[in-house]
Amino acid sequence: MTSDEPFRPRLHFTAKAGWINDPNGLIKIDDEWHLFYQHEPHSTVHGPMHWGHASSHDLVHWNEHPVALYPDALGTCFSGSAVETQSGDIKLLYTAHRTDDQGQDLQVQCLVHADRQLTSFERESSNPIVTNPGLAAFRDPKVFWHGPTRRWIMVLTHGQSVGIRSSSDLVDWRFESEFGASEGRHGEGPWECPDLFQLRTTNGVSRWVLMVGIGTDGPGGGSGTQYFVGEFDGRRFINENAPDVVLWADLGRDYYAAQSFSGASETVTIAWVSNWQYANQTPTREFRGVMSLPRELTLVRMQEGLRLRQRIAPTVAAAFEIVRSGENPTSGTYCLLTQYDPGATKVMSVTLFDEPTPIVTITPLGEGKVRIRTLRESVGQISQFAHDYAVDVVLSGPINIEIFVDNGIVEFGVGGVLWLTNLHFPPKPAGRVEVTFDDEGSPYRAIA
Ligand code: FRU
Repeated sequence: MTSDEPFRPRLHFTAKAGWINDPNGLIKIDDEWHLFYQHEPHSTVHGPMHWGHASSHDLVHWNEHPVALYPDALGTCFSGSAVETQSGDIKLLYTAHRTDDQGQDLQVQCLVHADRQLTSFERESSNPIVTNPGLAAFRDPKVFWHGPTRRWIMVLTHGQSVGIRSSSDLVDWRFESEFGASEGRHGEGPWECPDLFQLRTTNGVSRWVLMVGIGTDGPGGGSGTQYFVGEFDGRRFINENAPDVVLWADLGRDYYAAQSFSGASETVTIAWVSNWQYANQTPTREFRGVMSLPRELTLVRMQEGLRLRQRIAPTVAAAFEIVRSGENPTSGTYCLLTQYDPGATKVMSVTLFDEPTPIVTITPLGEGKVRIRTLRESVGQISQFAHDYAVDVVLSGPINIEIFVDNGIVEFGVGGVLWLTNLHFPPKPAGRVEVTFDDEGSPYRAIA
C-alpha cells in the first residue's frame, strides 16, 4: 500500500484512488480472502457505485484488482454479498439502484456469475431476481447457505426492518418473514447492510446473531452497527433479549456496514470506518474511505446475557508494533497495550498523537460501572466531526485494553467485549502516547 498521504493507514485497507464505503461480497476462496467494496473510482465522493475488488492471503497485505462491477441499465451497484455453491461456482448478489424521473429510489436485487479466480463477472439474464414490493429502501442482500433446511437464505433491508427470503437456486426467492420493526434502535433512516450468522461461546453454546447498520441515531450520533442475539430456524429470527435492549458491535462513531466473510471457518467481519454524517468531507486527497481491521467474532456469556466478543484477526494484530505507556511509537501504526481495573477507582486517561488532552478517559462510577469518554477535535470544516461523548458500561476487571492506531484511525478495544472505533486526523499521527492513572483524571477540555 502506498503511504503518499499522512492519513493513509498501513494496515487498514484503502483503495489507491477514489471513494469507498461498505465492504461487499466478502468471501474466502481457496485460502484467499476477497474483499469487494462500494467504490466510485472516478471521484472521492459518493456517486454512481461500482464494486471495487481486492484480495489477500493473510488479511494484512491486500492487492487491488480491476473494478468488478460497473453500473448497467438496471442501475448502479449498491451493497451485497458473495457465495460459493456446492459445485464450486461463485455468485455475487447486489442491489441495482436507480432513481426515476420523480427522483424516487428504485432498488432491486441482481445475481452475477463469476469465475473462481474472480476475474470475470457475468450478469444473470433474468435480473432482477428479486423485484421490489414498493419499498423505498430495499437493498443490501446478504446470502448464506442454511444447512438444516438446505436452502439459501437472504437477509435484506426492508425500510426499518430486515426481510428474510429463501431459495433453492439463488434465482427464485420466496419471502419468509420480517424482523425488527419494533426491536432495537431505530432512527430516521432505514436499517442497512444486515448480516445473519451463527456463533459459539468457548463452551459450545450456539446462537444466531443478526447485525444491522443504523444510518442515524448510532451510539455516538449518525451511523452505527447494532446486533441481536437469538434463534433462526430457516424462516424466522427470534430475538432472545427484550425488544428494547440495544446492543452495539462498536460504540465508536466510525464503524458501519459490518459484514462477515462467507467460506471461512471463523466468523471474520470487516466494516467501513466512517459515518454518513461527514463521510464525504474527510481530509484525504487521492482516496476517501477506509475498511476496519478484520475481527474474529465469538459469543461470551456476561451477566446480562450472551454478547459479542471480537478480537482483531491474529495475523493482523501481529503486524502492529506493540507500544506500552511511556514508550514512543516509531511510526503512526502501533498497538498500545494497557490494563484497567474498575475496582481500583482510578481515572485512566489515554493521550495519543502528542495532543494536549486525552482522547479517551475511563472513570469508575462504582460497582464495576465505568464511564468511557471520547474526545475528538475538529479538523477543517467537517461538520459534525468534532465530538465529546460518553458511554456508561459495566466491566469486570482487571481488563486488557488494546488500542490499535493506524495513522489516525483508532480501534479501541476493552477486553474484546467493547470496541470504540473513531477516525482522527491529528497533525502528528506518530506523536507521543501516554496512559495515566490518577484520582481526578487529566484536565479535560470540553468542546463546544
Ligand atoms: C450503507 C449504504 C447501503 C447502500 C450503500 C450505497 O452505507 O447506504 O445501504 O447499499 O451504502 O453505497
